[in-house]
Amino acid sequence: MPRTRLPDLVMGNLVANPPIVQGGMGVRISRAGLASAVANEGAIGVIAAVGLGDFEHQPCTRYATINADALRRELRAARERTTGIIGVNIMVALTDYASLVRAAVEEGADIIFSGAGLPLALPELAAGAQTKLVPIVSSGRAARIIAKKWARQRRVPDAFVIEGPRAGGHLGFPRGDLDRGKAPELDALLGEVLEVADGIARGCGRPVPVIAAGGLFDGADIARVLSRGAGGGECARRSSGNRGPSGRLSRATFPVLRPSPR
Ligand SMILES: Cc1cc2nc3c(=O)[nH]c(=O)nc-3n(C[C@H](O)[C@H](O)[C@H](O)COP(=O)(O)O)c2cc1C
Repeated sequence: MPRTRLPDLVMGNLVANPPIVQGGMGVRISRAGLASAVANEGAIGVIAAVGLGDFEHQPCTRYATINADALRRELRAARERTTGIIGVNIMVALTDYASLVRAAVEEGADIIFSGAGLPLALPELAAGAQTKLVPIVSSGRAARIIAKKWARQRRVPDAFVIEGPRAGGHLGFPRGDLDRGKAPELDALLGEVLEVADGIARGCGRPVPVIAAGGLFDGADIARVLSRGAGGGECARRSSGNRGPSGRLSRATFPVLRPSPR
């Protein structure tokens, strides 16, 4: 069967193909093993920074240090296994957010993905680093607020992730709306964020890709969001636990990397 090359997902000097991001999954689900396996396929692997350390057996005053050290270890372990793109997911709501951002930056993480709150202080915390900064949002309004605040810190988002109501966790929608099926669908939200990203891109003279997330499971889902203007698609649940007999994740065991039969 002839293979169609998918478009690249480009953030400055970082180029991912296939244009897929593995969504961050805490606690301790997406670590160096999964992230490096995804990165070795050309996509973007992501380590979830939440609660990585062995803090249960340590004094709680050391919580932030233990987690930051564990994140450093995961990033180094990932680097030993891949030369591909490795990002870190750091939720704004975490009490040790600032210390995790600093650890990720100091270890040279390629990208920080940050949601579960508005990452308004992220540029300041990551100042001077090469690390790309990518907010995770649930609406065009949130994207606009972040872009406005970051502009005052002379920083432009390197991309956005728009996470729709079908994502597996950390949803930015009221519970009642989700229960009644009233939350806006991903495709509509993608349009909103694309409008904001296009405005920013015109202002700064470089593309600001929008990565669609939430309920994408196979190649047809990825193709759908790409055809609607997304620069890439993000999958989390589809990548967890899909290991082959060798214990390694591969194109054969990460179905979203394969063309869909649909
Ligand atoms: C078990 C689990 C853990 C998650 N942990 C995080 C997290 O630490 N930080 C975050 O921003 N999102 C987290 N998420 C949300 C996923 O990143 C999000 O669901 C994903 O990007 C969209 O892919 P999906 O449709 O396969 O769920 C988590 C989701 C799951 C299912």
